Amino acid sequence: MTDVREQLRKLVREVRHRAYVPYSKHPEAVVLLLSDGSWIPGVRVESASFSLTILPLQNAWTTAVALNRRDVVAVAFSQPPDAGVRAFLEELKLSLLDVSTDLFASQASELPALREPLVPFLDQMPGSSLEGIQLAREVAARALAPYSRFPVGCLLQLENGRCIPGVNVEHPDWTRTLCAERNALGTAISYGIAPSTWRTLFLSCVNDVRGTPCGACRQLLAEHRSDLSVWMDRGLENPPELMRVDLLLLGFFVLQ
Ligand code: THU
Repeated sequence: MTDVREQLRKLVREVRHRAYVPYSKHPEAVVLLLSDGSWIPGVRVESASFSLTILPLQNAWTTAVALNRRDVVAVAFSQPPDAGVRAFLEELKLSLLDVSTDLFASQASELPALREPLVPFLDQMPGSSLEGIQLAREVAARALAPYSRFPVGCLLQLENGRCIPGVNVEHPDWTRTLCAERNALGTAISYGIAPSTWRTLFLSCVNDVRGTPCGACRQLLAEHRSDLSVWMDRGLENPPELMRVDLLLLGFFVLQ
């Protein structure tokens, strides 16, 4: 049987081509191996507003949090991580050691045999805006927001009705925090789910009935799907509010 570590390296090379890197042209990816052998891909997602670029490890880790699977036992990188990425990994407190320059694994036991990718969808498929918002509120319970205590949940619903969850995932270095909306967007891109198949985003900032996507999320969403519908939670008393991404960020920046 091929060594799991070699299989992980092969996988990471395969998912790498999903990276959105129109500017650097340097695709990068990671694969997170979970304790049951399922795995999560994460790719680099560049932004025309360069500093909003999502790094592969951050992308994959935020997917793991949104899918309620933090049982990461190994991380394979398409290229050796720099000091910043290594520091990011350490902050996750996953107790992984470097096996080689591009692979970090739990020392505890043998790695599990590799299985299928973790399914990135919720079981439920909301049939109305209210159902979508209710589900986004439930998903917000998965948020990792110890610093702001401001949990956010969202769903990116596809044309086929399936929903990718997103939650905000905070980091001790605040600049490495990722919002719920960009979390879901990064998951879709990492799984090779084309923006043309995205239908609606449901968003709940559960502590704020006036909550809307932040500027960074508006920019990223606009770069990939400027005509996307966004339903926003307006609390228990009021119906959700609908807005389109291009109207949320008038005259948004593009780089042609
Ligand atoms: N946040 C989101 O998840 N989405 C938004 O559109 C607004 C902000 C999160 C990020 C951070 O964890 C917390 O809310 C406060 O900014």
